[in-house]
Amino acid sequence: MSVENFFKNLWRDYVNMTPQAESIARALEARGNVVQNDHVAFRTFNRPPIALSNLERLLTQELNYTRHPEPYFFEAKKLNAYGYLPPSPTQPRIFLSELKTEELTGPAQDVIGRLLDQINPEDTLDPSVFWHGPFWQVPTWEEYQLLANESSYAAWLSVIGLRCNHFTIDVNALENHKSIEEMNEFVEELGFVVNDSGGRVKGSKEVLLEQGSTMASEMLFEFQAGDTHSVPTCYYEYARRYPDKEGNIYQGFVAASADKIFESTGGPTRQSESQKEEL
Ligand code: NI
Repeated sequence: MSVENFFKNLWRDYVNMTPQAESIARALEARGNVVQNDHVAFRTFNRPPIALSNLERLLTQELNYTRHPEPYFFEAKKLNAYGYLPPSPTQPRIFLSELKTEELTGPAQDVIGRLLDQINPEDTLDPSVFWHGPFWQVPTWEEYQLLANESSYAAWLSVIGLRCNHFTIDVNALENHKSIEEMNEFVEELGFVVNDSGGRVKGSKEVLLEQGSTMASEMLFEFQAGDTHSVPTCYYEYARRYPDKEGNIYQGFVAASADKIFESTGGPTRQSESQKEEL
């Protein structure tokens, strides 16, 4: 599969889940901007056949991506992550994170285990896994809440499955929106909500990367046993990168800022922090 086709498929699936992204991209284009992607991000559980190492193989072997050497650790959110660089610099970077499931409680691990047991490993061998969605029957509302109380990331993954969590606009490539705050104001003018957890602009010129994002779209979702509830789906991000001392544009992802940006799909809420005591 070509990188171009990979991103075409990915975008189609993503805007289905995240209609705000298409509205924002079209509005930028209507103002004369070319919308290029800085990166896309995926979430997964650290268990085969969909662990980060399994997914990484698809990126490096099928799409010729290269792992960026710097590993990322998000202790509070129980995540490991890596960034991947594209074969051509005009193509988007890819960010993969995985949840350390063994750090959740037994009941949460049981729920995740039941989901993972349903995966046919043969369905995970080509890059279409990245827009496959859930490989399992959706959980019950009770199971979803159990996961959400420990990890909003796990709850999200249990219903949304493997698909793009966010696309990220390359702000450097825009004609007339040169800062993250300008982008924040632009998406607000369009009627969308900016994620202000940890500030409206995450990162800084000093750390060579600034990012902002919308809050995730919401979708009515039918859980097993028929309960219907609204759940957060995906959000749209925008990133501005700065050159380092040698004049090279920064290629990494800043842990301190990415940790906050995970909260675009909810949590760690005050509620779940207090409930965690009871588990
Ligand atoms: Ni991102």
